[in-house]
Amino acid sequence: MQEIVIKQLTPTDYERIIELWERAGMPARPRGRDSYKELTKQMEKNPKFFWGAEIKGELIGVIVASSDGRKGYLNRIAVQARYRGQGIAQRLTLAAEDTLRKEGIKVITLLVERDNIPSIQLAHKLGYVQHPDIIYFSKRESEED
Ligand SMILES: CC(C)(COP(=O)(O)OP(=O)(O)OC[C@H]1O[C@@H](n2cnc3c(N)ncnc32)[C@H](O)[C@@H]1OP(=O)(O)O)[C@@H](O)C(=O)NCCC(=O)NCCS
Repeated sequence: MQEIVIKQLTPTDYERIIELWERAGMPARPRGRDSYKELTKQMEKNPKFFWGAEIKGELIGVIVASSDGRKGYLNRIAVQARYRGQGIAQRLTLAAEDTLRKEGIKVITLLVERDNIPSIQLAHKLGYVQHPDIIYFSKRESEED
């Protein structure tokens, strides 16, 4: 069994992160908040919010934490298809949660599309409470953001 390493990501991982998201069916917004400039700005501000999973130096999983100082958020978790079902998403989530807690964050939230059963099950397994009564709203400057 090859060793899976959970590690903090840096701007040098940018291309690999985008490729992993695209392969996982989560296209990035390269002209908006996933542009090199925006993403590396976020990384430099909060270096501990970007976690990756590697096998033999290959990036096979990623998660991005974020915080508004009041609540924490888990974003854009993805594991390469052939490595799913081995607890990698779980390890990434726990690493990101730990970072947020160390920042003093006590409420951690995540958004999942209604038909994304693996992610919903992952959230249940890790103790997240579902809120069927809440409706998500957003306002964007453009579709790129
Ligand atoms: C969601 C995703 C990250 C899960 O990654 P993973 O490494 O396979 O997940 P894990 O092995 O850590 O699974 C942990 C738990 O999640 C749940 N889970 C994961 N995959 C599941 C599946 N296909 N069906 C049902 N439950 C699943 C289970 O409760 C599992 O625990 P168990 O193995 O003890 O039953 C992965 O399926 C993925 O990359 N999907 C595409 C990208 C995506 O949709 N991201 C989420 C955007 S919000």
